[in-house]
Amino acid sequence: MLSLLLIVVFASRGFALDNGLALTPPMGWMHWQRFRCLIDCDAYPDECISENLFKTMADKMAEEGYLGAGYDHLIIDDCWMGEHRDAQGRLQPNSTRFPSGIKALSDYVHSKGLKFGIYSDYGTKTCAGYPGSHGHLETDAQTFADWGVDYLKLDGCYADLDDLEPGYIQMGKYLNQTGRPIVYSCSWPAYQEPKGIKVCNQSYTVLCNQTYTSLFQPNYTALRDTCNLWRNWDDIDDTWSNVTNILKWFSENQDRIAEFSGPGHWNDPDMLIIGNFGLSYEQSKAQMALWAIMAAPLIMSVDLRTIEPKFRDILLNREVIKINQDALGIQGRLITTIKKIDVWTKPILPNEGAPSYAVGFLSNRVDGYPYRLNVTLAQLGINQAEKYKIQDVFDPMTREVSQNETIFVRVKPTGVVLLTATPILDKQK
Ligand SMILES: *[C@@H]1O[C@H](CO)[C@@H](O)[C@H](O)[C@H]1NC(C)=O
Ligand SMILES: *[C@@H]1O[C@H](CO)[C@@H](O)[C@H](O)[C@H]1NC(C)=O
Ligand SMILES: *[C@@H]1O[C@H](CO)[C@@H](O)[C@H](O)[C@H]1NC(C)=O
Ligand SMILES: *[C@@H]1O[C@H](CO)[C@@H](O)[C@H](O)[C@H]1NC(C)=O
Repeated sequence: MLSLLLIVVFASRGFALDNGLALTPPMGWMHWQRFRCLIDCDAYPDECISENLFKTMADKMAEEGYLGAGYDHLIIDDCWMGEHRDAQGRLQPNSTRFPSGIKALSDYVHSKGLKFGIYSDYGTKTCAGYPGSHGHLETDAQTFADWGVDYLKLDGCYADLDDLEPGYIQMGKYLNQTGRPIVYSCSWPAYQEPKGIKVCNQSYTVLCNQTYTSLFQPNYTALRDTCNLWRNWDDIDDTWSNVTNILKWFSENQDRIAEFSGPGHWNDPDMLIIGNFGLSYEQSKAQMALWAIMAAPLIMSVDLRTIEPKFRDILLNREVIKINQDALGIQGRLITTIKKIDVWTKPILPNEGAPSYAVGFLSNRVDGYPYRLNVTLAQLGINQAEKYKIQDVFDPMTREVSQNETIFVRVKPTGVVLLTATPILDKQK
């Protein structure tokens, strides 16, 4: 009887990965977008994927305010490995580029107050062709735990699409069995979403022998139960069109995926490209604002030695980070598009009788001047209180408005205006 009751309670509540981690969207730095698979240390000693690069970035993160602002994970992506496993079948780093070994690097990163993340691939090879974890999941989980890894990005190249879900679930069990809490970053929807999946159960036996069909989508319940975050869609490259493509995909699929994001488990639209070569200053603010509204992991990928101060200030903007790290963990949504300006909202704290919101206005206009949009909060579904205090996150401005009062926002071409709206509650009550 008791066990039956428990089953009912759990079934209605739903499981979610319970490793106590990532209660707000993970933050950190990862090398891929800026440094890719640059392994030629003779030609580019300061940029190649090596322990020197990661130690230098760890120093910068600790000393220049990134750690203080919340960016607490330093994460190695692909191309750290040697060509082969060692005699015991364990992964090992490239010995010329990581002469001190991964444990020593992990210790160094920890000594800076940071957490240490690493990359492997569920398939037979990593995307860049290094040894994959297929057939070695348990060994690799234990190796990572022994090295003091706090965060694992498990990629999905060189694997069967219909093998991904059970394989990632199995790896999650092995990580759990190590006893070391490790943030688990999954990639299986990024491989399944574009192609669909093979469905071969009682309801769909007819499809068993067929190829993948995009009618069938990744199981987000399984993702939430298995992973702390997961890459949903295509990789980001260093261009504004990639940012807008990702926002388009996230908004088109928001009714299907947003509900699975929350404390401990997050949709991941990929890295921040702020401070690199492809985004203007306004576009950089826009990526930061929209990633905050989507409750996306904030993973920088930029050379912290050479980043210009104005981009650094965007990454370190405490008000934007606060919206992203809001404890409710609600993924914001595209509410409406007015005159080519997308309006996104995200409920945030405080919520004392009526929710507060972050509101992002993203311009898809290119007509060269800051376009003036007239809009009321009620029009955006922000109508649970009569009056709100609105604040502009990037430009100092505070006003009190009623929900039906027109507010004017001026949005620069491909830029953003980010506001917060906090209810002004009737003090008499
Ligand atoms: C280590 O990486 C270098 C390139 O930086 C490569 O030439 C060398 O073969 C690699 N060594 C091993 C043992 O994989
Ligand atoms: C392993 O899973 C159990 C059950 O979900 C959980 O209570 C525990 O905290 C997990 N341990 C680690 C190290 O993730
Ligand atoms: C999705 O995964 C959950 C378990 O995490 C399972 O209960 C459910 O049956 C799966 N749905 C489908 C359609 O396979
Ligand atoms: C980013 O742009 C590249 C080059 O145009 C493209 O191949 C890739 O699919 C794009 N990714 C996204 C997420 O739009």
